[in-house]
Parts: sequence; C-alpha cells; structure tokens
Amino acid sequence: MISNDQSASRGRRPAVVHRLSDAQEVVTGRPARVLTGDRPTGALHVGHYFGSLRNRVALQAAGAELVVVIADYQVITDRDGVGPLRQRVLSMVADYLACGIDPNSAVIFPHSAVPELNQLMLPFLSLVTVAELQRNPTVKSELADSERPLSALLLNYPVHQAADILFCHADLVPVGRDQLPHLEMSRTIARRFNDRYGQLFAEPTALLSSVPLLLGTDGKKMSKTRGNTIALGDSEDATAATIRGAVTDAERHISYQPDQRPGVSALLEMGANCLGTDPPALAASIGDGGAGRLKRVVTEALNEQLRPIRARRRELLAAPDLLAGVLVDGIATAGAMARTTLAAVRTVMRMDYLA
Ligand code: TRP
Repeated sequence: MISNDQSASRGRRPAVVHRLSDAQEVVTGRPARVLTGDRPTGALHVGHYFGSLRNRVALQAAGAELVVVIADYQVITDRDGVGPLRQRVLSMVADYLACGIDPNSAVIFPHSAVPELNQLMLPFLSLVTVAELQRNPTVKSELADSERPLSALLLNYPVHQAADILFCHADLVPVGRDQLPHLEMSRTIARRFNDRYGQLFAEPTALLSSVPLLLGTDGKKMSKTRGNTIALGDSEDATAATIRGAVTDAERHISYQPDQRPGVSALLEMGANCLGTDPPALAASIGDGGAGRLKRVVTEALNEQLRPIRARRRELLAAPDLLAGVLVDGIATAGAMARTTLAAVRTVMRMDYLA
C-alpha cells in the first residue's frame, strides 16, 4: 500500500520504519521527536498497554522526545457529545504516568486547548480533495461501523490529525496498521504544502508496532463496550471476573490456534505478554489443564504485571491537581510549538501582512 521507493529516490524520509534506531538514522543530530495520540473515549486497557504504552516508555528511555496528544475533538467524530471528559482525560494522564511515561520530559496535552494547532487545519484542508478523503480506508470502515450519516468531521479528521502531527514537526509516529492511511495523509499534506509554499514540513515516518493486535477475551476486537477487555484501572477481582467470563471452548487440551480457537488464543496472548513468553509455549505449559487452569494462570499473570501500575495509578488519581498540572505544562509547551509553526506557515504563505 505504501511505497518507500519514491521517497528514497528523492532523499525523503521513509513512510514506515519498524525500529527507533532506523528512524534515529533519518533524523540525526538530535533526538527524534515521537508523537502519539489517543482519543479519550474510555479507559485505557491492556491492549493499549501492550500495544502502545509500553513502547512509548521504551522510546522515551531510548532518548526520544515524546509528545502525546489527547485528541478530545476526535471524540465527536462518531458521537453526540464529549462525555465526562475531565474525568477521562485525568484518568488517561494517570495511566500514562503509572505506566512510566516521564511527565518532566514528555509533553502531554489535549488538542482542544491549543487553538493554533487547530488553525493549521484551514490551510491543510485546501491541500486535499474530498475524493481523496472519501477513499480513506479507515474513515470508510469507521463509517461502516456507525449508524450515522457521514459527518464532515469524520470525513475531515485525518486532516485534523495531520495538524496534530505536523504542528510539532514530529519525526516519528508510532501507530497500528489501521492508522497508516492517516500517516500517509499527513505526508501528502506536508509534501503539497512544501511544493506550494516552500519547504517547511518534513514528512513524518510511521513506526509500525511489531506487537500484533491483542484481541479481547472473546477473541474479537477489544472494546470496553463489549466487556471483553481489562482496563488498567480495574481491580484484581474485576480482572478475575472478566477472565472467568471469557469465551473459551470445551476442549481440555490448550493449544494456540487463533483461527479455530479465538477466545483461548486471545487469553494465551494476554498471558504470554505478561510472562514474557510466546503463546504456543504458554499453551504447552498448560497442556491438558483446560480452560479453568488457563484462566487462573492468565488472571494471576495480568494482576501481577499490573499490580505496581495500579498502585501508582491510585496514588496519582488521589492527586488530581498534579495530573491537571501536567496538562497545564503540556498545553504551554505545545502552545509555544504550535504558535511557532503557525507563524512560519503564515509567513511562507504570505499571510503575515499585518506583522
Ligand atoms: N486516531 C488515533 C486513534 O484513534 C488517535 C490520534 C489522534 C492520533 N491524533 C493522533 C494518533 C496523532 C497518532 C497521531 O487511535
């Protein structure tokens, strides 16, 4: 789907890399700026932890500069209101810090609080066509999953996401496969902007997670509304109850067969992630123990892995002023970045006629 050839031949950055070290080679001379984003629609869960949060902490430890956008405007791409946003956003910040993201060096902020970031969307919208947006496979599948008519925001949110990425000149964006079309949109916008007005934006590179998508306890896509996942903030008892309720089968011999036994295999993946082993090896160690034994092992492994994170999370939630302070600092830093970028955009576009 995405070709590197053209970019390589013109000395551009690759569209996709799989390791920070590959990206760091492209950046050279300074730490890579890594940008990630989350929609605050519900509690972060083990899928986020194994798929993304752990990786962010590792990237930070490897010297990357981390910017985390809490994409609160993206909440209303497919619903009527933003929901209990303060509570969700503070809980998200608690999850980040509890997992080990260092707030002293990371910039964590909600994009609604940075007007200059949002204003970038106007010139960016002029660089893409409605037909291109209508072809976006992720938007198409989100539309297919929804009972609503296509809103202009759902159609245009990949352009808004380009503003999330380009406002801080991100080098690297760790994403799952579903987000690649949005990354491609950001690259297109950067390129067209530069061609039209003069070189300003480097094309961001996707850092594609090597961790396969973790499925929920029923073997289907994880989602809080399906009740098939475990939130980082769930209690040990709630974790045990969710896993007890997981969909398995009557066969006593435990084996890793994602296609034939999706529920059993999803549990094996969760357990293997915690225990640092792989799902077939975990299956072999359970052998003829049946679903009951599998569930006990996975519950124990998850609760063990999450125990320190949960303890830290509880402490953080008891200090909402500290969490809000992280956001206030993040908004100040992100605001300064966005103002610099918007000023440069207006300059190259020759819109700074009153300056
Ligand atoms: N669309 C992303 C998701 O649903 C969240 C997001 C918003 C994002 N802005 C971003 C991801 C910028 C990466 C970069 O997961």
